[in-house]
Amino acid sequence: MKIGIDKMSFYTPAFYVDMVELAEAREIDPNKFTIGIGQDQMGFAPLSQDAVTMGANAALNLLTPEDIAAIDLVIFASESGIDHSKAGAVYIHRLLGLPKHARAIEFKEACYAATAGLSYAQNHVAAHPDKKALVIGSDIARYGLSTPGEPTQGAGAVAMLVTANPRCLAFNNDNVYMTEDIMDFWRPLYSETAVVQGKYSTEQYVHFFEEMWATYTEKTRLSLADFEALCFHLPYTKMGKKALDTIITTVDEEKQAELLNYYQLSTKYSRQIGNIYTGSLYLGLMSLLEHQTTLTEGSRLGLFSYGSGAVAEFFSATLVEGFANQLYTAAHTEQLAQRKRLSIPEYEELFKATLPTDGSDYSIDEKLDQAPIKLVGMKEHMRLYTAK
Ligand code: CAA
Repeated sequence: MKIGIDKMSFYTPAFYVDMVELAEAREIDPNKFTIGIGQDQMGFAPLSQDAVTMGANAALNLLTPEDIAAIDLVIFASESGIDHSKAGAVYIHRLLGLPKHARAIEFKEACYAATAGLSYAQNHVAAHPDKKALVIGSDIARYGLSTPGEPTQGAGAVAMLVTANPRCLAFNNDNVYMTEDIMDFWRPLYSETAVVQGKYSTEQYVHFFEEMWATYTEKTRLSLADFEALCFHLPYTKMGKKALDTIITTVDEEKQAELLNYYQLSTKYSRQIGNIYTGSLYLGLMSLLEHQTTLTEGSRLGLFSYGSGAVAEFFSATLVEGFANQLYTAAHTEQLAQRKRLSIPEYEELFKATLPTDGSDYSIDEKLDQAPIKLVGMKEHMRLYTAK
C-alpha cells in the first residue's frame, strides 16, 4: 500500500519586509541579502498570528468535510510553541473542528520536527488505512533587529494531509537519519530570539547533508542521476545550494543544469517568505511542484531535512498520477500578492511589540488582521483565539 502526501498548503501572514529596504536601513549592500543570502522579501507575523493560528490557517485551504471526518491524528511541529505543556495541536484540533476521537500532539526538534511528524503519520496510516493524518509545521523565525541573522527571519506554516493511496506523492521508505549533539542554533526557554553560531551552523548543515547523502547512496545504491530534483530545508535560499554543490559534479552537465533549474524553482516561495523553520523544506517542495511544468508521474524527488542541535534526515518520494491536480498554486499566489509591505520603521515597531510575559490580560486590535483564524488577546494566562 502506498502512503504519502495527498495534498499540502501553506500560510504566511499578511505582512512582509523588502530586503533591499532592510539592507539600506542597515547600511549593507543589498546584493548581500538578495544574492549572497538569496532573499527578496521576509514574511512578518503580527501579534495576532502565532504558530498555532498560522498552522490552523495553513490547513483551512486544504480540508474538505470528508477529510475532516477521516482525520484521527494531528501533529503540530514547531520551535515557536506557545506552551511548555499543552500541545499546539490541541488548539488546532478545536479551531479546525476535527473529530473528538483524534490524537493531537506536538513534536519538537528545531527545523526537523515536521519530518518526524510525517514518519509518525505514515506509521499511523499504515495501521489505519481508512484514516487520515494532518501534519503541520509552523514557526516564526526571530533573530533580532540588526543581527546577522535578521535577513534570515520569516514566518509561516505548512499543512500536509497524509493518507493511503495519496494523490500527490508517495513515500519510498528509504529514509536515513542521524543525530549529533551540537550547539549551532538554539533558543533558551527565557529568550524571544534564537541564539546562533551562524557560520558554524552553515558548516554543520553541509556536513550533515554530506553524511546523509553518503549513507543514503550506500543503503539504496541510488545515485544523483536517479533523482529528478532535490529539495532542501531552506533557512535562506543560498543554503541548500551549498549542500547541492557538494554532489552536483557527480552527474553530467545537462543533468546538472536540470537539477539547478529545479533547485531555483524550489526556492521561489522561500525567497518571498524567508525561513519558516519546520515548514521550510515542505514550502520548498510546494514551490518546486507549483512552479515547474516538466515533472511527471514517477519522478523521484529527494528531500533533505535539517534541524539544528542537530538531527537530519534524507528520504525520497515519488510523484503519483494526477499530482498537478492536488496543488493550490492560485491560492498561494493570491495570498502572496495580497500582502502589505511594511516600512522598516513599521517593522521595527511591530517587532518590538510582544505579548505580556507577566500574566496580565491583553487585547489585540482585530481589525488589523483579516486572517480567518487569529489571536485576539490573553486573559487569565490563556490565549484567546477566534475562527471566522
Ligand atoms: N554581494 C553579493 N554577495 C555578498 C555581498 C555582496 N555585496 N556581501 C556578502 N556576500 C555574500 C558572502 O560572500 C556570503 O556568501 P557565501 O556564504 O556564499 O560565502 C553571503 O553573502 C553571506 O555573507 P556573510 O557570510 O558575511 O554573512 P553573515 O556573516 O552576515 O551571516 C548567516 C550569514 C551566517 C547565514 C546569518 O544570516 C545567520 O546567522 N543566519 C541564521 C543562521 C542560519 O540560517 N543558519 C543556517 C544553517 S542552520 C539551519 O539550517 C537551521 C535553521 O533553520 C536556523
